[in-house]
Amino acid sequence: MAVHGIHHVGIAVEDVDAAVALYRELFGAELEQRERLEDQGVEAASLRVGDSHVELLRPLGEETPVGKFLASRGPGMHHVAFRVDDVAAELRRLAGDGVELIDETPRRGAFGTIVAFVHPRATGGVLAELVYEP
Ligand code: CO
Repeated sequence: MAVHGIHHVGIAVEDVDAAVALYRELFGAELEQRERLEDQGVEAASLRVGDSHVELLRPLGEETPVGKFLASRGPGMHHVAFRVDDVAAELRRLAGDGVELIDETPRRGAFGTIVAFVHPRATGGVLAELVYEP
C-alpha cells in the first residue's frame, strides 16, 4: 500500500473570502491557490497550515455535488484526502477488494492534482479522496 498521509481536509463553505479570512485569523492559514473547476461545479481555494493544507470548496450551483451537500448538511467538513503515489493503482487495489468507489478511474483535481473519490459508505461515513500531486 502506498498511502503517505493526509494531503488535505476539504471543507464546504458558502463564502470563500470569509472562510479564508477566518482560517487566517484562527489558525494562521495562508491562501496558496484558488481555482474555479466548472466541470466539478466548485470554486476551490487551497490554504497552507504548517505542513498541511485545507481545501475550501464553494459550490457554483445548488445542483452540484457540493451544493447538495451544503443544502443538506450545511457548511463544514466535506472530505479527507489521502496522498498516494498512484491513484489508478490504489483504485484497482480497492476495487479488487470490493470497495465502493465514486470514481472508477482517476480524474483531474484542483491545482494540478490527479484524484479519485471513495464512497462514504465504504469508509464509515467519510468521503475519502485519493490525491496525487506531481
Ligand atoms: Co479535496
